[in-house]
Amino acid sequence: MKVLLCGDFDGPARASWLTALQQALPEVQWLDLAQARDAHNASQVQAAVVANPPSGSLQGLPNLRLIQSLWAGVDRLLADATLPAGVPVARMVDPAMNAAMAQTALWAVLSLHRGYFAYARQQQLKQWHVHPQRRADEVTVRVLGQGQMGQAVTQRLLQMGYAVQGFSRSAGQPLLPFLADCQILVNLLPLTEPTRGVLDARCFAAMPPGASVVNLARGAHLVEADLLAALDRGHLQHAVLDVFQTEPLPNEHPFWSHPQITVLPHAAAMTDERSAAQVVAQNLRLLTQSGDAMPAYLHLVDRSLGY
Ligand code: GLV
Repeated sequence: MKVLLCGDFDGPARASWLTALQQALPEVQWLDLAQARDAHNASQVQAAVVANPPSGSLQGLPNLRLIQSLWAGVDRLLADATLPAGVPVARMVDPAMNAAMAQTALWAVLSLHRGYFAYARQQQLKQWHVHPQRRADEVTVRVLGQGQMGQAVTQRLLQMGYAVQGFSRSAGQPLLPFLADCQILVNLLPLTEPTRGVLDARCFAAMPPGASVVNLARGAHLVEADLLAALDRGHLQHAVLDVFQTEPLPNEHPFWSHPQITVLPHAAAMTDERSAAQVVAQNLRLLTQSGDAMPAYLHLVDRSLGY
């Protein structure tokens, strides 16, 4: 089987994906964009394994039967109007990535709960000052998004004894009342039109004074100016941000040096090439085994919903 592997990764990143994929699927012939476009190959390419490929990459492949994303969030992939309609799109659901996300969320919640970000600041200022110590079950955490990652995070925080509740848009729950007693908000929503800008002034105002925000999903969920205003007027206490409107975060951006913001470089949870290659292998094997029938692919995206 011929499969296109392409994305916005650099040479070494592609090579390392290729090694993992070749190990998981030795029977596949992996093509790059130029090879796939070759008149001899184009009609034989049955699947494309992609990491936010350049616009237009998947055109001219008449027998494409699967687009498998290496990214968990498919917002950028689906925003490409040239993506062939009618070809199933599967997203990455990588157990190692879910575990990594749960670790980052736990670190952020624990650090907020126990004041570790404040203590790090105090060390710079040589300040010896002890903050009150609350029990985990006194800390209310609200996890927005109950997909694979949101659920993994919710479970991990519950195990640690936090007072956690998950929010799912698809369950039709209204968001603002849900935030009324939220001390720590962790965002893991998919980025879609209805969730764009969801972390805005209205959302922050719905949270009690002293609450904190952890955004581990997409930069476009957050209205950056509203966050700065809520921190600066003392309503919000702290924000832990892994994702930004513009990445890498520009040098002159106020988030870098804000004392109440902790910046991560979109590193909360990276796809693990070894386990992700196994997920790709499962879907490509379903394709080869299905004959002419539509395979029952895993982790299919509903293109109308955007996730
Ligand atoms: C990372 O942000 C991903 O969507 O895989």
